Amino acid sequence: MTENIFIDQNLSDKDKYTNLLAQIESLLDQNDANVSNLSNFTAAIAQTLKKISWVGFYILNGDNLFLGPFQGKVACTNIKLGQGVCGKSALERKTIIVPDVNLFPGHIACDSESKSEIVVPLIIEDRLYGVLDVDSNSFNAFDQTDKEYLEKLCSILLKKIF
Ligand code: SME
Repeated sequence: MTENIFIDQNLSDKDKYTNLLAQIESLLDQNDANVSNLSNFTAAIAQTLKKISWVGFYILNGDNLFLGPFQGKVACTNIKLGQGVCGKSALERKTIIVPDVNLFPGHIACDSESKSEIVVPLIIEDRLYGVLDVDSNSFNAFDQTDKEYLEKLCSILLKKIF
């Protein structure tokens, strides 16, 4: 594996994602422990997109999602399936973009500074593994470009860890 990624911060978000996609394969190593790959994945996303205040995983165990590797401030450790944005995304198995967290019924505020959010479910062979949660301190930080590229990045991650 390579232990560095290089992202030109002058690029558009789309080009930053394209740049990251080209490097993520060699950053993640299927011989490494899952926790190591998940950790570097969150670091790579945080390094790529400065609009992000928090990025991390919630992993499914029974009907509970527990906090996995992340970058950002300390966060809640357990979320019930169906609760908050993470629980809803996990239950419905679809990516959810929340432009204003104040307008999302049941949003779980781990950080009062967080203003918008995107959550991507991680599904491998029809089985839900967990979700990737990405937060920003700006409203409307995430759009279809983030959805498209975060989903692509997650599918590469899943191939590496299973
Ligand atoms: N806001 C999330 C909870 C996790 S924190 O943002 C890290 C939610 O509503 O599910």
